[in-house]
Amino acid sequence: MDTVLSGIRSTGNLHLGNYLGAVRNFVRMQEGNNCYFFIADYHALTTHPATEEMHRNVRQVLVEYLASGIDPEKSTVYIQSDVPEICEMYLLLNMNAYLGELCRTSSFKEKARKQPENVNAGLLTYPVLMAADILMHHADKVPVGKDQEQHLEMTRKFARRFNTMFNVEYFKEPQAYNFGGELIKIPGLDGSGKMGKSEGNGIFLADDEKVIRKKVMKAVTDSGPTEPNSPMPEPIQNLFTIMKAVSTPDTVAYFTEKYNTCEIRYGDMKKQLAEDIVAIIKPISERIKEIDADNEFLKRTVMRGAEKARENAIKTVREMREIMGFKRLF
Ligand code: TRP
Repeated sequence: MDTVLSGIRSTGNLHLGNYLGAVRNFVRMQEGNNCYFFIADYHALTTHPATEEMHRNVRQVLVEYLASGIDPEKSTVYIQSDVPEICEMYLLLNMNAYLGELCRTSSFKEKARKQPENVNAGLLTYPVLMAADILMHHADKVPVGKDQEQHLEMTRKFARRFNTMFNVEYFKEPQAYNFGGELIKIPGLDGSGKMGKSEGNGIFLADDEKVIRKKVMKAVTDSGPTEPNSPMPEPIQNLFTIMKAVSTPDTVAYFTEKYNTCEIRYGDMKKQLAEDIVAIIKPISERIKEIDADNEFLKRTVMRGAEKARENAIKTVREMREIMGFKRLF
């Protein structure tokens, strides 16, 4: 059984794109793997200092992942800052992480450009903290998007470097988790680009069905094709992309045919699309309300999660110290 670890950004409400692209796969991974899911709130400090809002976001993300089907009976769910041992591992790994390689990391260069007033050391050593998250559990696999591949590569480098320096075979090199298919990118409803949190073009897991229908009906379209089999403009392509992800192949085939024969009525297509999205999101948004009201469940989940995560963390830090040659003086 593989150990799988995934870190989750603590930045607010999940949308349909997050769910179809990642969260749904996390739910599936729980079968047959030893899974850890944690909320990376220390990482969030590299861009956002701790605030009331961050605290609310951590809770919201937790609630939404649980509502989506992450099951604390099957997986370990915890909050990064509940595991203080991570800080010691981060310190030890930092001693063998070099300025040059950290400066060359794409995410660092990008963030430094975006927040020139706050290029803090945490930003620079972000990949080291991430390596600590992963190596702490000796994870075999880490499901990551494209933007995180370089960080995973650095984790492997830090693991190898530790093994070489101390002449041990201690850390294993974690691999990217491949879902065995192409990763789906869900576009927004505003005609172009990806569905995003800040773009105002998204359908959120917490939206109720009325809101969903309204958003879908307002999606950008055009006046329709005038010649059979004409190429699809981007906004229409986007609606079909979403439809392929949420509707049955028959439904997709039906509307494709209507498009190709210039008989399509976008109103009908959107109605169908809205119903198919509601079918996916409604059970989740209902669970969000239930879980949000159940403080005891949330508390039990994160306390048990932290306890299980700390068991690994304590052991890994102890073993690292032994390998590195720390000895008690007295
Ligand atoms: N950097 C990841 C992101 O931005 C979050 C993360 C932190 C993570 N630690 C991790 C992901 C460990 C996987 C494993 O999405």
